[in-house]
Amino acid sequence: MVKVLITGGAGFIGSHIVEKLLQEGYQVIVVDNLSTGNKSFLPKDIPLYTVDIQSSELHQVFKKEKPEIVIHAAAQVDVNSSINNPQNDASINILGTINLLNCCHKHKVQKIIYSSSCAVYGVTEDCSVNESFPISPLSFYGISKSVAELYMKAYHSLYNLNYTVLRYANVYGPKQSILGEGGVVSIFCKNILKKEDTIIYGNGQQTRDFVFVKDVAEANIRAITKGEQQIINIGCNKKTSIKELYQLLLSLNSILFTTQSPIYQPKRQGDILHSRLENTKAKIILNWEPNYTLREGLEETMNYYRNELSI
Ligand SMILES: NC(=O)c1ccc[n+]([C@@H]2O[C@H](COP(=O)([O-])OP(=O)(O)OC[C@H]3O[C@@H](n4cnc5c(N)ncnc54)[C@H](O)[C@@H]3O)[C@@H](O)[C@H]2O)c1
Repeated sequence: MVKVLITGGAGFIGSHIVEKLLQEGYQVIVVDNLSTGNKSFLPKDIPLYTVDIQSSELHQVFKKEKPEIVIHAAAQVDVNSSINNPQNDASINILGTINLLNCCHKHKVQKIIYSSSCAVYGVTEDCSVNESFPISPLSFYGISKSVAELYMKAYHSLYNLNYTVLRYANVYGPKQSILGEGGVVSIFCKNILKKEDTIIYGNGQQTRDFVFVKDVAEANIRAITKGEQQIINIGCNKKTSIKELYQLLLSLNSILFTTQSPIYQPKRQGDILHSRLENTKAKIILNWEPNYTLREGLEETMNYYRNELSI
């Protein structure tokens, strides 16, 4: 049985990866400091080490568990927090990643799969972006994610540690945080279900490429055996404006509340205007393509929050 250690396994995306790993027969170990993650997202019998990826304790976990594969999904994920506190963002996303890479090297891990982000591109034009598009992050978060990618590459050339970098588009689905700076889909779902006001930053015409979390988890499984030393976009190559997204979510709710029109506020710093990922490389190299249409994914997400919020 192949042993996989996943950082951030108690988080939104990480917990879906854990679920898929178990379905596929992998042995799973989770490292998560539970800063934004939730223990209840994990099955009870999964070993969970409540350890910070920046801590020296991480080496003890590797020494004890000897994982063959590492999936690195732990991070400071909030763009706004990165603007307010770039040092904290860099400590977790860069220094934490280096600590993890050191553990992988010292404990002879075969491969690391890194959860990167479309935030590394920072494009403002309305076009589909492939992996050779120039890196030009608009936020400190985008910078820290792209620097960690470079460390993956260097650990390979220096120490032969295999890696695959997956650059996710906007991921949405069940278990995403509805608090503060959580995902736009989960926050809109909560607002619609609880009949609360929704704020849209900017004019709502900004577009995103929404990819369902179960499709993202599947991409990670494929990357265990494919895509060595590759950077691969994981998105649907479809654009949806924030305004359209809100309308679509409203239409999924059986009762339409005409009063639920959004409140517009000024655009936030560091926010990308348009983001859409070309996904041909994922199709060719990982044999991956999205299984869920946006409507299907949003329906599953809305149902999840309906249950969670008991509505
Ligand atoms: N959600 C998205 O749309 C999206 C898009 C692109 C990339 N990503 C990347 O995917 C990964 C997972 O993001 P998510 O949306 O599931 O966020 P999340 O906050 O739900 O998950 C992050 C997990 O990492 C843990 N964590 C944070 N700092 C840690 C530390 N120092 N040590 C140990 N554990 C720590 C948290 O407790 C949490 O469980 C991140 O690397 C993020 O950058 C997410």
